[in-house]
Amino acid sequence: MCLFSYFAVLCRKIVPFKLADIGEGIKEVNVKEWYVNVGDHVKQFDSICQVQSDKASVTITSRYDGVISKLYYEVDDVAQVGDPLVDIETDKDTEETHRPDESDDSSSSSSSSSEDEKSQPQVLKQKVLATPAVRKIAMENSIKLSDVAGTGKDGRVLKEDIMRHIQGGAPPAATPVATPTPVAVPTPAAVPAPTPARISPIPVVPAVSIPIGKDKTEPIKGVRKAMVKSMTEANSVPLFGYCDEIDVTKLVFLRESAKAVTAATGMKFSYMPFIIKATSMALHQFPILNASVDKECENITYLAAHNIGIAMDTIEGLIVPNVKNVQSLSVYEIAAELNRLHALGLEGKLSTADMTGGTFSLSNIGAIGGTYAKPVVLPPQVAIGALGKFQVLPRFDEEGNVKKTHIMNVSWSADHRVIEGATMARFSNVWKAYLENPATMTIHLR
Ligand code: COA
Repeated sequence: MCLFSYFAVLCRKIVPFKLADIGEGIKEVNVKEWYVNVGDHVKQFDSICQVQSDKASVTITSRYDGVISKLYYEVDDVAQVGDPLVDIETDKDTEETHRPDESDDSSSSSSSSSEDEKSQPQVLKQKVLATPAVRKIAMENSIKLSDVAGTGKDGRVLKEDIMRHIQGGAPPAATPVATPTPVAVPTPAAVPAPTPARISPIPVVPAVSIPIGKDKTEPIKGVRKAMVKSMTEANSVPLFGYCDEIDVTKLVFLRESAKAVTAATGMKFSYMPFIIKATSMALHQFPILNASVDKECENITYLAAHNIGIAMDTIEGLIVPNVKNVQSLSVYEIAAELNRLHALGLEGKLSTADMTGGTFSLSNIGAIGGTYAKPVVLPPQVAIGALGKFQVLPRFDEEGNVKKTHIMNVSWSADHRVIEGATMARFSNVWKAYLENPATMTIHLR
């Protein structure tokens, strides 16, 4: 060893890079994905790993330049805040975080930095790109991601790639998706007959994969662990339930027009943006439903912002991000925000800000199926609504004639300690009126 490299070795230090406090009272996280391997060079702000708390998914970035010399956890392990995630062999002196008891390791492993790096098998460097959700499906089905043909950017393995792999299909040809032809905005006279609402196809994935003939016990972690906590808390709240049916025929027409107008933007425009806006407009008249109660239910706070939480079904479990300040957003702006939240939610990348601060919730269980549900209020909120599937059903018009109608059912639950059933029913009537005659929503436009 030449004098220079001997000196360089002496200068190197092993720094345990600890999981810092990520706020919101988070004490532990699940390690969802490593972006580095032992022997990898990292620079400050390079991504180290993705962790999932009960509130959000966070990418941990390096505070040092150096070489990774140890990973403390396997994927899916639980890491405590304040404990080391990785050891980094730093390029320069970092006395402030270096602990004397690790100096031996430092010198003994330091020689591995450049020499070993060269001898690292190349496979370590060729990380298959995929989201944590896709990795989870791969793990549950014992599939090596490297065996799956990724059709995403830079060969990223997408959810549809792995589902195709499970079903034994070949990757699609270069132009797999039929681009929807932009539809001309229908004039009132030329409005087409409403097409039945479509339900998104649900991939056939077992919620939990259990090897046939074997029992399997596993810890409840991540998003599901958060659900244990929030639902146990929610169970102490006495709920009042109220259901109704809404004639959404006009809303179906309106949504078709909105879809046509926004088709060119590539933005998804579902019924939800209208339903969310109608909720906020009805909440204006019933501020007690956009409120929070303290733990002992001694005080109620009427909340100024309408941050409408939307229950989302993701591969990680149920999450409820919220669209902030709906009272000040147009239907279009709500659609854009919902698209953003949905995309991040499916990737497991929602921020703590997206996940906290909700003031009222909606659960569109009808996107999966069903008519009625029994939603559970998320404390400290005081009310929630579950939406059923849009169905084409016969109903009588005012002259007694049978007509083809689009119907959606709604099921409300409210904290009966502070919300009277009559309040919930009156709120529902206002909300229903907006959705049955969506033109009336425009009279409040500023
Ligand atoms: N009835 C009929 N069709 C519906 C529908 C309903 N209730 N809800 C959605 N659709 C349609 C949409 O309009 C869209 O149709 P399109 O392709 O013609 O535009 C299609 O189904 C897909 O919609 P989706 O992608 O689900 O968007 P969305 O904005 O309506 O809903 C979520 C977004 C996140 C709310 C929804 O995907 C979801 O996860 N729902 C499940 C919520 C849940 O699990 N609740 C239980 C909590 S315990």
